[in-house]
Amino acid sequence: MRKARIAVLVSGGGTNLQALLDAQKSGILQSGEISLVIANNPKAYALKRAERAGVRHLVLTGAEFEARLEEVLRESNIDLIILAGFMRILSAGFTAKWPNRILNVHPALIPSFCGKGFYGLRVHEAALERGVKVTGATVHFVNEIPDGGEIILQKAVEVLPDDTPETLQRRVMEEAEWILLPQAAERVSKGVIQA
Ligand code: GAR
Repeated sequence: MRKARIAVLVSGGGTNLQALLDAQKSGILQSGEISLVIANNPKAYALKRAERAGVRHLVLTGAEFEARLEEVLRESNIDLIILAGFMRILSAGFTAKWPNRILNVHPALIPSFCGKGFYGLRVHEAALERGVKVTGATVHFVNEIPDGGEIILQKAVEVLPDDTPETLQRRVMEEAEWILLPQAAERVSKGVIQA
């Protein structure tokens, strides 16, 4: 059976990439295969994870980033793009070329703590500052509005009284992101191959 060819875009530690790689091994992700990992940061530990898993990986930086990205994705016959801790906003011109074909994982319950400036640890700092008792993660399609595309999956996570941004980030990853992202990847991959 044909599998959807997935490119994962990363910038940092790559624990969400790892969750996808593990899901592929365990069979949770079976309608898609991680064919390519692209980092916009040569120091991203995610690159090591890709290497260890034997997945083709490369670094793209600089002004021509999106043009090169588009080229690489087309050359590699990519069906689906997953932003997994990718800390760069894609232009409206780029997202328009991939309607319903780009997924993102965001570490909060959209529409809370999202949009421009809300990424990584900052999201959890903002949640703690506001004093919310529940936060979570969202997987959504990517369109021209940062964190504004259709929501695919969400999961709530409790905020504990003595949480720091770091402890909260970890709990949101463990209890929500690493579970939701593979599930959403499978669901959308299935749709892609049936289309
Ligand atoms: C994750 O929490 C992810 O949701 C978040 O950055 C972290 C990356 O961790 N992404 C964003 O904030 C994007 N707006 P990882 O590199 O270990 O997957």
